[in-house]
Amino acid sequence: MEFKEVLEKRRTVRDFQNKEVPKAVIDYAIENGFKAPTYNHLREWDFIIIKSIESKLKLIESEKLDKSTDLNELEEMFRNKDRIMKEMYMDAIPKQKKMILEAPLVVIVVFKPKTKIEKAKKTYDLNCLASVWTCIENFLLSLAEHDVYGVTFIPQNIGTIKSKLEIPDELEIAAIIPLGYKSDKAVILQQKPVDIARRKHYERW
Ligand SMILES: Cc1cc2nc3c(=O)[nH]c(=O)nc-3n(C[C@H](O)[C@H](O)[C@H](O)COP(=O)(O)O)c2cc1C
Repeated sequence: MEFKEVLEKRRTVRDFQNKEVPKAVIDYAIENGFKAPTYNHLREWDFIIIKSIESKLKLIESEKLDKSTDLNELEEMFRNKDRIMKEMYMDAIPKQKKMILEAPLVVIVVFKPKTKIEKAKKTYDLNCLASVWTCIENFLLSLAEHDVYGVTFIPQNIGTIKSKLEIPDELEIAAIIPLGYKSDKAVILQQKPVDIARRKHYERW
């Protein structure tokens, strides 16, 4: 597929078909993830592939996603906010639990931090996080090439998830990615238009 086509195809999807994703597609996407740039040349990234309901429930419990969402409360929270951003949160927030449960696969991307995240003082200390996100984008683009889509969910209770899934203490979770084929009802939200000409600065701001 043309590079531009893949770039445009990759979008966040939170509604999935109940259809298995071939292992080869995931393996290829992980291989492509490992082609990304990395701050220390070591590519200290790992992928945990989850299919079982038991493991998915561990994520849902850790993240306390069991509560139902009050749509009126949500509406109030985003009143007077940017329309496109509001549309995204109104669609996304109620789906956080469902997308983990219904995705045929959930992939957890783990990385080795340079400095413990809570001790980071400068952007440089976050090079490990920046690097793993370049890997995640390669992974998502590679999936999109095969009509497989995902959503990057960033957990709040990383310590709990690490202990439930036996992730070594010295590692961190970058993202939890429910993924699969797009359901017919999947909502692809408008990307916020950006006036790119105004975002380009030459020689100085
Ligand atoms: C760092 C990061 C964190 C995100 N966190 C979440 C999340 O917790 N839950 C969710 O449903 N989507 C999450 N998203 C997906 C964004 O909502 C989505 O990328 C954004 O709305 C733009 O849409 P697009 O990916 O289709 O271009 C996250 C994306 C990024 C890059």
